[in-house]
Amino acid sequence: MTDVASLTSSETTHTNGDSHTNGTNHANGDSQTNGDLQEAFVDRVATSANTPELVPGLVDQVASLGKVASLQDHTDRTTLLEAARSLVYALETPREAMIRYCWSQATLYASVETAVDLGIFAILSKDERPKSATELANATCADPVLLARILKHLCAMGVILETGPNEYRRTGISISLSLQRYNDAYPCMTNCITSGVLALPAQLKKDGYANPANGKECAFQRGFRTDLHFFEFMKENPEAASQFNNHMSVYHQGRPSWMDVGFYDVPSLFSNVAQDDVLIVDVGGSMGHDLSEFRRKWSDAPGRLVLQDLPDVVAQAKAGQLHPSIEAMEHDFFTEQPIKGARAYYMHSVLHDWTDDNCRKILKGLVDAMKRGHSKVLINENVIPDTNAYWETTSLDIIMMADFASTERTEAHWHQLVGSAGLKITKIWSAQKGVESLIECELA
Ligand SMILES: C[S@@+](CC[C@H](N)C(=O)[O-])C[C@H]1O[C@@H](n2cnc3c(N)ncnc32)[C@H](O)[C@@H]1O
Repeated sequence: MTDVASLTSSETTHTNGDSHTNGTNHANGDSQTNGDLQEAFVDRVATSANTPELVPGLVDQVASLGKVASLQDHTDRTTLLEAARSLVYALETPREAMIRYCWSQATLYASVETAVDLGIFAILSKDERPKSATELANATCADPVLLARILKHLCAMGVILETGPNEYRRTGISISLSLQRYNDAYPCMTNCITSGVLALPAQLKKDGYANPANGKECAFQRGFRTDLHFFEFMKENPEAASQFNNHMSVYHQGRPSWMDVGFYDVPSLFSNVAQDDVLIVDVGGSMGHDLSEFRRKWSDAPGRLVLQDLPDVVAQAKAGQLHPSIEAMEHDFFTEQPIKGARAYYMHSVLHDWTDDNCRKILKGLVDAMKRGHSKVLINENVIPDTNAYWETTSLDIIMMADFASTERTEAHWHQLVGSAGLKITKIWSAQKGVESLIECELA
């Protein structure tokens, strides 16, 4: 195996762009001879394992975790998955990584979205029986040649399994993609997220690489050729909005939740709450999935549960699977909070959509409605750890940067933001690298 460590020192001294020999910078190819050396070195690196020195340890780690991990246990399974992912990153060559990022991700995405639109996953996932490309084409009226190409790529990327030439069977992924709440993620990204992310490099360059701070003049507007803020754009694009709301209702499924026993002390919320009092207001609660989950998990909880969101979202929530005991209310969180003295004002993935200035406005609206010694603000968000941040969080941070000019926040950032709105953090409960943390706040 060729590895970076085994490359000659005459090659390695040319790698960082700072080294000068005889006054020539070898990294930028100014000198033909040394430029060639540099290119040969890079070619070797590009076709060798990325970090070979990590491979043996990671192989051992995957093997030993694999022997004891229970796939039903979230921590066991994700620890094994992360080790396996690290092994792939260490083992694949830079060229292979380049192709995976640049070719496979966009093409997989396009293939999944096409298959979703055709309803392929619903048909394929009806039962265990393998189905041929021709059968699936006949059922969907797609060109069989076209569909066979799409299916081959879906199989090559692990979305479906091959059982013979042009014949496939379902997997867990394809089963989940048969349900609209899950498969809406793909058209959702196309219709209201991805173009903003792809426009980010050009927008950052134009803005002199300043941290984005204006949600009405960021990569989102460039990518989607609009003057509207993301949520104004949603109002004008009901199909994208519905897909976004569906995506919101499932993206966190299976993660540890603050409502689970052993995470946050949920019963501590129940004291001094009578049946007519409001226990939780879910501010910006989308389809009400969190409150419905809460009602299912804590069916004996006292008090009322109130869902608040913008009018179109509330209408979609009412038409959906909202638990009948939940009160749905149209409310713009930049206006006065109509529910006074609730036990908890809860916000899940809301503040990360907004700049600090806007978050302060949202939080101050709650501060004005809170009853001292009784009301709490519960913020369910990522708390980015100082090291070892999780890739789902960092991905979301870049999405926030591109489409909202906002951010995921560290613990220090949360303290500073909450404090500037007249609140104090009493405690932060976290699981799995700060994902889905619960930040409990009271009046300062
Ligand atoms: C990222 S989503 C989070 C939804 C939900 N809390 C969850 O975690 O799944 C943000 C929510 O804020 C809502 N929202 C945006 N602007 C709002 C406003 N001015 N007033 C009330 N809700 C708003 C959106 O409609 C959306 O449902």
